[in-house]
This record gives sequence, C-alpha cells and structure tokens, in this order.
Amino acid sequence: MAKDESAKRPQRRRETLLTHGGKAAVAGHDFVNPPIVRGSTVLHANVADMKERSRRYRSDEPGPVNYGMFGTPTHHALFDLMSELECGHRSWAVPSGLAACTMAMMAMLRSGDHVLVSDSAYGPTRRFCIDVLPRYGVQCSFYSATAGREIEALFRPNTRLLWLESPGSLTFEMQDVPALAELARKRGVATGIDNTWATPLYFQPLRCGVDISVHAATKYICGHSDMLMGTVTCNAASWPRLRETVFTFGLTVSPDDAYVALRGLRSLGARLRQHRATAERLIEWLLAQSEVERILYPPLATDPGNALWKRDMTGASGLFGIVLQPNAGGVRLEALVDAVQLFGRGYSWGGHESLLIPVSPERSIVAAPYQGRLFRISAGLEDVDDLIDDLKRGFTALRAA
Ligand SMILES: Cc1ncc(COP(=O)(O)O)c(C=O)c1O
Repeated sequence: MAKDESAKRPQRRRETLLTHGGKAAVAGHDFVNPPIVRGSTVLHANVADMKERSRRYRSDEPGPVNYGMFGTPTHHALFDLMSELECGHRSWAVPSGLAACTMAMMAMLRSGDHVLVSDSAYGPTRRFCIDVLPRYGVQCSFYSATAGREIEALFRPNTRLLWLESPGSLTFEMQDVPALAELARKRGVATGIDNTWATPLYFQPLRCGVDISVHAATKYICGHSDMLMGTVTCNAASWPRLRETVFTFGLTVSPDDAYVALRGLRSLGARLRQHRATAERLIEWLLAQSEVERILYPPLATDPGNALWKRDMTGASGLFGIVLQPNAGGVRLEALVDAVQLFGRGYSWGGHESLLIPVSPERSIVAAPYQGRLFRISAGLEDVDDLIDDLKRGFTALRAA
C-alpha cells in the first residue's frame, strides 16, 4: 500500500494539536469544548437536502451526515483530532480496544486470505486470529516479535495483512516498523499496528508506511479507567475498507464517550510526562533489588529495543515489565503482588492509578518467556515515594515467602 498522502501535510507540533486540534467539526460554537450532540435522526430541510446528504455519504465527503450512525459533531471532533495526531486520512471509534484490533483485521481480510501476526500481540487479539478468523476462511500464522527480514520467508501468496504491536504490551519487544511495513508494501501486503503503548503523541506509524493504526483508547487516551474505547486511524487506501466494515457492522460509540476521549487527549501530554517520570523512578528502585533480573522498558539504554525506540518514538508511556530472578518466581511473586496496598491488582493500564499484576505471556512460535516470574506495572499519578514504599512492602513479603 502506498504511503498516505496526508502524511506529507505540514503538522503543528503534537502537543499543540492536543489542545487546538479537532475543532473544525464543531466550528460555530463559542465554548472551548464541543457540545455533546446526541442523536440518531437527523432532520433535513427538504428533499434536496436529503439527496445532497445521501450523495455526500456515498461519496464519503466530510460534512453534515444524514443519520446518527455516521457520527455527530462530537464524534467528528474526536476523529479529526486522532487523524491529525496520527497523520492519517480518517479515524473511527469502536466500543473497545479489542474491537479496534478485530475490526481493523475484518476490514483488511477476505475469505481465502492469510494474516501474519506478531507473536507478542495482545492475548485476545491473538485468540481472535486463532479462533475466529478461520471460521471466515482466513488463515493466520505468527512471526517472532523481533523478526526482521526473516518475515519475507513467511509471506504466502495469499498474505494480505501484516499485524504489528510495538512494543508488545507484556514483553515489550520493539519492532522495526518502517522496515517491516516496507517489506509488506513491496508484496502488496497491508500493515496494521496496535500503537497503544506509544499513544498517538509519541509514534505515528502511518508516516512509516503502515496502513492502519489502532489504539485501546481505554488506556492513556481516556486515562482515568472509567470507560472502554478503541480508535482506528487509516490512510487513504485502507479507509474505504474500514468505513464499509464499521458501517455494515453498525459500530460506533456514544457521543458522551467520544467527548470523554477528546477531553482525555487534551491532557495526554502532561499526564504522559508524569507517568514516564514515575515509571523511571520506580525502575531505578527496582533495579537495585537483588531479586530483579531485568526490566522490560524500551527507553532503558540496556533494553534490546532501545535503538529502535530512540529512532522511531518521541517519548514513552509508563507501562513496563519486571522479570524476577528464576528463584524469586512462583509463590514468592504472588506474595509480592498480594502485599501491595497502593498499587491496584487489576487489568488494563494507562489510568491515573498505579497497577501491578503478574502476567503470563502466550506464545505460538517460541516458548512463553519468563513464566511465573514476570509482573507488570502501570505507573499512575500518585506520589512516587508512596509507590516506592508500597513496593518495599511487596519485596519484604517476597523475601519472607
Ligand atoms: C495492547 C493492547 N491492545 C488492546 C487492548 C484492548 O483494549 P480494551 O481493553 O479496550 O478492549 C489492550 C487491553 O489491555 C492492550 O493491552
């Protein structure tokens, strides 16, 4: 697929876009923030207006819509801002991050096609590929999350989509996104990526030749653990397929949720700086503990993905993995997780509250790494010294176990 034309348009700096982007859809309102426009039915001035709006819909022109499914101005303020941030053509939102991954795949794949998926992909996305896609005649196979040129040998004549997740959200392998997208493009294979960790602020995959970029907006974009949402941003080549898929499946989100996601984006830069600063302090403390074998976090100079992170991303979020020494796993890890009082033991990440969970990566082509001795921290916005005190409590319990 060709690199998107819109990737070439001049951009404001991203932090300015976070504040000032996405305004065109709600032009004419005096308030800083858009109104929450709820609605299914749109009233038309006359038959000519009905015809004109139908024509616009058929020809996919932005502007007034003829039915609520196609988005109120509140939705379009969010979609426009996501497209600006991701340097994409158009964006859409669906009810969860998982739905963003699965709908992007449904859009790009047909019966008889094959999809190549990174072995590090989010577990439920992997299960969709293994359990659901074959029911619709789509074959799936996995490739190593650290593979480079080797993937060339894995393309089949019917491969239509290469799926990436960089870094992987449990084991944090960085992928060489521009190189992989280029290898795929040369074969006429489209590329999709789960870009949740980097957020639209710190990485723009469509500028690297990727066709579809998805976010679990549930995480940093919404940022407060109070809703689920996924976004999909497309280049011009992939948008018609995504558009057809979401409209025929009837997939949209409520205007209230679109508003919350838009509000989340406005403060994303400030929150991410704090998430990262807290993550770095926690990592510094963790690395000084003899039970910690290594930390999985691409911004660390010692991380195998550090060179790619430095080359491709302009910042980092606050999610990282901690690998314990082999003799510190199992029951001892569970004692640590049970002992913390401030960190929440809960799934998801990117909210204002810190979370700490044991994780067990699933893998198809290599042995699942770090079994029983890997845990993951989502650094929240609490005072970091309180969080370190909480980790001390956890490590005391680990040592006693
Ligand atoms: C990398 C990644 N992608 C997608 C998702 C799915 O997001 P949601 O929980 O909104 O379905 C998650 C959730 O944890 C995730 O970690």
